[in-house]
Amino acid sequence: MTSAEPAEKLLSPVLSASWDDHRPWTLETYRRHGGYDGLRAALAMAPDEVIALVKDSGLRGRGGAGFPTGMKWQFIPQNDGKPHYLVVNADESEPGTCKDIPLLFANPHSLIEGMAIASYAIRCNHAFIYLRGEVVPVLRRLQAAVAEAYRAGFLGKDALGEGIDLDITVHAGAGAYICGEETALLDSLEGRRGQPRLRPPFPAIAGLYACPTVVNNVESIASVPPILARGKDWFKSLGTEKSPGFTLYSLSGHVTNPGQYEAPLGITLRQLLEITGGVRSGHRLKFWTPGGSSTPMFTDQHLDVPLDYEGVGAAGSMLGTKALQVFDETTCVVRAVTRWTEFYAHESCGKCTPCREGTYWLVQLLKRIEAGQGVPGDLEKLLDIADNINGKSFCALGDGAASPIVSSLEHFRAEYEQHINEHRCPFDPAASTVWA
Ligand code: NAI
Ligand code: SF4
Repeated sequence: MTSAEPAEKLLSPVLSASWDDHRPWTLETYRRHGGYDGLRAALAMAPDEVIALVKDSGLRGRGGAGFPTGMKWQFIPQNDGKPHYLVVNADESEPGTCKDIPLLFANPHSLIEGMAIASYAIRCNHAFIYLRGEVVPVLRRLQAAVAEAYRAGFLGKDALGEGIDLDITVHAGAGAYICGEETALLDSLEGRRGQPRLRPPFPAIAGLYACPTVVNNVESIASVPPILARGKDWFKSLGTEKSPGFTLYSLSGHVTNPGQYEAPLGITLRQLLEITGGVRSGHRLKFWTPGGSSTPMFTDQHLDVPLDYEGVGAAGSMLGTKALQVFDETTCVVRAVTRWTEFYAHESCGKCTPCREGTYWLVQLLKRIEAGQGVPGDLEKLLDIADNINGKSFCALGDGAASPIVSSLEHFRAEYEQHINEHRCPFDPAASTVWA
């Protein structure tokens, strides 16, 4: 894939191919688009062959970390006499991230079919979907689709043939960002307060009810049926060598046409903006995030960084959730970072000190800088606190909170200094208070 290719060729709708069709969420429409062909192909193979195929396809987790999906399935011990579980992480909450919810709303059967295939491969008879609780219409649609799949015989008694049953339980969370962290999710699913567990052991060894459990993101599992139906070589023909396949990019912010765009991994933001109409008219890009606010802030210097898991280019690309948030020159960096940090402080579960106390301190400092009350030394303090959170917290939420602080100061230190030196926000003079 090169920038010389015609822009429209870069879009590769697979998961979103039926979204514009009549009632795409129904089983009838899904089957018209080849739905459940992947499950049929999987059931003709041995479970281990399915795992090997998914591993060979190179599919990597779409929830943010990019861990190889087939390898995760392979970690599940076999013949251990314990139940095995599949848990789908549908607790999408990362700021700017909005791909799994639209996918579930438009095409819930792609997830259900993927779950049936994954359950067959890892020998699981009871799978769970942990859905973000606030999205009630999606919960209803998912429940209706699961009921439809039961009626059609894709779930329930002997659903996987040879007497193998499969049940799916849809569970709605209560709206805590930390419950998207896989072990906090498992605690919440078990009925406890959602807080991260120590890893290792990873869920593959001791997950739900201390049994071997695969926790996968919605998009990862929904990407499995096309791989079974069309083959690993087709999948590998898209994307890059180490990050193959297609994926959903969520484009938001100051752009002409925000939305979900399905394209191969390795595409650049420049290419995506060219296809989708670019930054809003009359404005220019100031900064952007490749995967929600937990990933580093990038500038127009990074427009050609491939959006894949490798981190190509000097700055590296932490792809994360592929939530491409675009901000133009009218945005105050300090204000944007303050809002994100307030989110992390609010969502910190409080289990470990660096994150619980550090995010609170970051917010206090940022708010006073934003209000024109910052003092010399505040920026060093911000970096010092971020350094004491980063890598020293119990889970990735702490690292995510530190990330925008460090990268924004790297790229926009002068703007922070302007707030401090001029005792006001240069983007909102009317709202600023002068503290001389
Ligand atoms: P991680 O890299 O620690 O783990 C990724 C996956 O691989 C996990 O399922 C883990 O169990 C498995 N794994 C890793 N090493 C293993 C081993 N040795 N044996 C068995 N399994 C192993 O990443 P983590 O902390 O699970 O997720 C962080 C990511 O989540 C970030 O990249 C961030 O972008 C993303 N994220 C996504 C959100 C969303 O709304 N979708 C919200 C917040 C963060
Ligand atoms: Fe909780 Fe934050 Fe510590 Fe994670 S880093 S365990 S969210 S306090």
